[in-house]
Amino acid sequence: MKRLAVLISGNGSNLQALIDATHVGELEAKIVVVVSNRRDAYGLVRAKQANIPTLYFPLKIYLEAGHSREAYDADLAKMVLAYQPDLMILAGWMHVLSPAFLDCFPGRVLNLHPALPGQFAGTHAIQRAYEAFQRGEIEHTGVMVHWVIPEIDAGPVIATANVPIYTTDSLADLETRVHATEHGLLVEAIRGIMA
Ligand code: GRF
Repeated sequence: MKRLAVLISGNGSNLQALIDATHVGELEAKIVVVVSNRRDAYGLVRAKQANIPTLYFPLKIYLEAGHSREAYDADLAKMVLAYQPDLMILAGWMHVLSPAFLDCFPGRVLNLHPALPGQFAGTHAIQRAYEAFQRGEIEHTGVMVHWVIPEIDAGPVIATANVPIYTTDSLADLETRVHATEHGLLVEAIRGIMA
């Protein structure tokens, strides 16, 4: 059984997809800890409901105490390492991780991005894809799972899936379609890595 650590910052619908996949045996893995940098992240509730240990680890307190971003990343790595994870899953984790974290888990940190490789790195990717479609710049969007490097939403690609955009779509329609695609792709990508 591979041990997964999942880092989140918000709703945690992708975490839920992982929890569900482990429960039905679609993913033969154990989520050993869920970490959030936000206290009110709904994903923490999902984790608690599934009896998964949680850690709340905010950056703000570090910065206010005069500690560096690297110190936060190094302490975060230490806390997660204690759970002996085989894979670290960034599922809506909103901080870019520096080598102070990444070097503790070489080749073991993966991220989910709601756009195709090389497109719309950073926040509001779905909205930016939607707007690019309105301007006729793209015909579809997609999602990707990739290994994490210090550069945001970049790194060796593990899996991608295209997501169509229709002229009748509202932004909410597109968001729903992208998220549904992410839930499937994340589980599939982790299964592929573990195979
Ligand atoms: C996902 O779209 C993920 O790709 C992005 O943040 C969102 C997180 O959604 N980076 P959720 O918290 O898993 O519902």
